[in-house]
Amino acid sequence: MDAALAAGAIAGLPAHDVSPLQGRLLELLARLQGARSILELGTLGGVSTICLARALPGDGRLVTLEADAGYAEVARQNLVRAGVADLVDVRVGPALQTLPALAAARAGPFDLVFIDADKRSNPEYLGWALELTRPGSLIIADNVVRGGAVADGGAGDPSVTGVRRFLDLVGAEPRLIATAVQTVGVKGYDGFALALVTSGSSSESSTA
Ligand code: DHB
Ligand code: MG
Repeated sequence: MDAALAAGAIAGLPAHDVSPLQGRLLELLARLQGARSILELGTLGGVSTICLARALPGDGRLVTLEADAGYAEVARQNLVRAGVADLVDVRVGPALQTLPALAAARAGPFDLVFIDADKRSNPEYLGWALELTRPGSLIIADNVVRGGAVADGGAGDPSVTGVRRFLDLVGAEPRLIATAVQTVGVKGYDGFALALVTSGSSSESSTA
């Protein structure tokens, strides 16, 4: 993991990786979920990809979508170094183009979807996550707190408004039971949204 972070820093990637504790939480959630297939939106240098891939069985698979070809190349090398490259398929291109291709190819349903790409598109990403999952799947989204900016509103920041709209949609979606887990650590004050896909009956999804 240190080598992956160092390679990302040398290549000039933004330091938007999950922290070690957040990464282990992702691995734990994937293990608790018994995930055999994982979809990630936003590979960056592959740090969270490595954490999620570690939770997979030997015949599991992880598809990770990255818009930037340079980032994807750094991630591929990091995945090889971490010994998980055989489990991972890095797809280059804007997720709003690669997601419809995955759906058309019937690549789902995925047991777990981790949303951690550009935040302004989070509302659309939620729709694709629902399209590519099944009842029982877990959808996780990073950066739903952003130091409190999401709760404060931040009307001018499309990253904040994208996350707020995403959370509003999650809250209104009868197929999801969701919460937000706030995290404090080396990445500051942030958090994950956790949403379980249900069959969508109103009794299961009534808001807490
Ligand atoms: C940003 C994006 C992230 O995914 C993250 O974990 C931290 C920051 C950002 O775009 O600012
Ligand atoms: Mg993030």
